[in-house]
Amino acid sequence: MIPTIEWHGKQVRMIDQRKLPHKVGWHICRGYKDVVKAIEGMVIRGAPAIGVAAAMGLAMGAASIRVKSLDAFRDRFTRMADEMSKARPTAVNLRWAVERMSRVVEKGASGSVESVKKALRHESEKILAQDIEINKKIGRHGQRLVPKKATILTHCNAGSLATGGYGTALGVVRAAQEAGKDVAVLADETRPWLQGLRLTAFELMQDRIPVTVIADNAAGSFMRRKRVDLVVTGADRIAANGDVANKIGTYQIAVLAKENRIPFYVAAPLSTIDLTLASGDLIPVEERNPREISHLGDKTLGPSGVRAANPAFDITPSKYVTAIITEKGIIKPPFKTGIKRFF
Ligand code: MRU
Repeated sequence: MIPTIEWHGKQVRMIDQRKLPHKVGWHICRGYKDVVKAIEGMVIRGAPAIGVAAAMGLAMGAASIRVKSLDAFRDRFTRMADEMSKARPTAVNLRWAVERMSRVVEKGASGSVESVKKALRHESEKILAQDIEINKKIGRHGQRLVPKKATILTHCNAGSLATGGYGTALGVVRAAQEAGKDVAVLADETRPWLQGLRLTAFELMQDRIPVTVIADNAAGSFMRRKRVDLVVTGADRIAANGDVANKIGTYQIAVLAKENRIPFYVAAPLSTIDLTLASGDLIPVEERNPREISHLGDKTLGPSGVRAANPAFDITPSKYVTAIITEKGIIKPPFKTGIKRFF
């Protein structure tokens, strides 16, 4: 499995996911602003991965602050943290990581600027290592829901590349395979960035897990023809009532899964759950550049000047979710009380 992101001396490097699968290469970030841009520009994406990137970016930014007093340091750090947390609005893991890093600065109030910088770097390394451990736990819990022989439909990429490593939804697939189950994946291509075709298929083929890519609009037909045993997706944010924000297109899959009596599971770390939001209606949904829909690279696909809309995520009401798989175990409906118990 290729690493998603890592420290390279004082720099942070990440696999440039815009270029996968044809080119596997590092994108080097030399300062925190490079990380902000990389997150905005989809060099790195996936909720847990952008949380890890934000933490590393802030540790790198903090290391470059040249002041002596902790007050001045905190001021500069807070500005960086604000900028970082705005890089993408939907995945709450980004805000979660920024808040965790900010707490390190608060805790270091009685120490020196240098000791806080060191603690920030250490915290970012911990966040990365913990993310991989958490995904393995999600996998172990989730694989219990997978029959001995199963075709699993997934949307977008909730794999190793979307996290520090191993993946959430694909972590469940990996763990099922490691447990000796005969699993195959149906991967929605996931327009417009094609994370399913470019990333999910790439990862699974590297791990020799059978994968077939389908057009997004084929998922319903595959379900109706009994070619799907269960659906597992990731999440960008889960509200306190269990409503799930995930890649645009997830909602229609969840509705179709219920219609066809196929379980629809969401695999996500607890850091994806936002207890401050009562329902999914309150989750901010990122609107991206309409050119991502109307164009392929520089080439326009439709009539010149055509209007396009590009919401990057949608909200799946919790009534369509069979269970949420977390590192602490499986949360079943009713989610409002189930989620509370896990915190
Ligand atoms: O726009 P992206 O590629 O960042 O969207 C990613 C997703 O929607 C994933 O399903 C989600 O972040 C979970 S990743 C473990």
